[in-house]
Amino acid sequence: MATNSLIQIQDIDIHDEVRGHYATRAANLLDGAATASCCAEPCSCGYPADALAALPADVAQASWGCGDPISLAALQLGQRVLDLGSGGGLDCLLAAQRVGKSGWVIGVDMTPEMLSLAWRNVAKVGLHNIEFRYGHIEHLPVESDSIDVILSNCVINLSPDKPAVFREAYRVLRTKGKFALSDVVADGDIPASALADLESLARCASGAMKESDYLDAIRAAGFQDVHVVDRTSAATLPGTDVQTYSVRVEAYKP
Ligand SMILES: C[S@@+](CC[C@H](N)C(=O)[O-])C[C@H]1O[C@@H](n2cnc3c(N)ncnc32)[C@H](O)[C@@H]1O
Repeated sequence: MATNSLIQIQDIDIHDEVRGHYATRAANLLDGAATASCCAEPCSCGYPADALAALPADVAQASWGCGDPISLAALQLGQRVLDLGSGGGLDCLLAAQRVGKSGWVIGVDMTPEMLSLAWRNVAKVGLHNIEFRYGHIEHLPVESDSIDVILSNCVINLSPDKPAVFREAYRVLRTKGKFALSDVVADGDIPASALADLESLARCASGAMKESDYLDAIRAAGFQDVHVVDRTSAATLPGTDVQTYSVRVEAYKP
């Protein structure tokens, strides 16, 4: 599969390219020099209007996601939540409001500037049931069987080793734990020429995995009841006839 050759050739390059891309975007927000949008620039896309109403405007704008994993997660008081690729911390903040003081939220991200932005946003909101950890989602700095719900929003498409991400998610979830994610996938294999375009990959486009392979990789990690909840925002990947689009997926650890 094309994605495997990408892993062997470019895994370090991909992490560096993606980190640089999001470091710049986080630094611009920290400086007050820009706003955000889906993947490329911050956007807050996909959330119900009232979900963000209680947050300061600049905190609510610190979103590079491609959907709303929070509604999908149906969080409950007291749960322990992990967000893979937590960025500016928006989903962690929304999760922390829902799990309450008896719950706990961990965000993991590999970009120091994003971690700084996330800590700043948490301080602005004044919640005390969140922490952010530096790390790679392919090797999570989280203990096994310790998490009730895993979120991820527009991040796994950026990983050079998606099966490793799903194996790690499975490892850290408790039995009957839920994986609720939003991500970009494709309706076919991405051609090698597009795979080599790291800037496109960093914008959440050419790193997309074919949807059926993506779901198979989640199942291969051990998850059950894996299904797509909805699909939105289709676009043709430039120079190809492949469509990329956002999906929300839920899955459970048996
Ligand atoms: C498109 S942004 C999404 C951020 C956030 N989930 C949101 O919805 O706003 C991708 C984020 O994932 C992080 N990221 C990408 N690949 C990663 C990896 N392999 N390990 C850890 N973090 C990663 C980036 O640093 C960036 O903060």
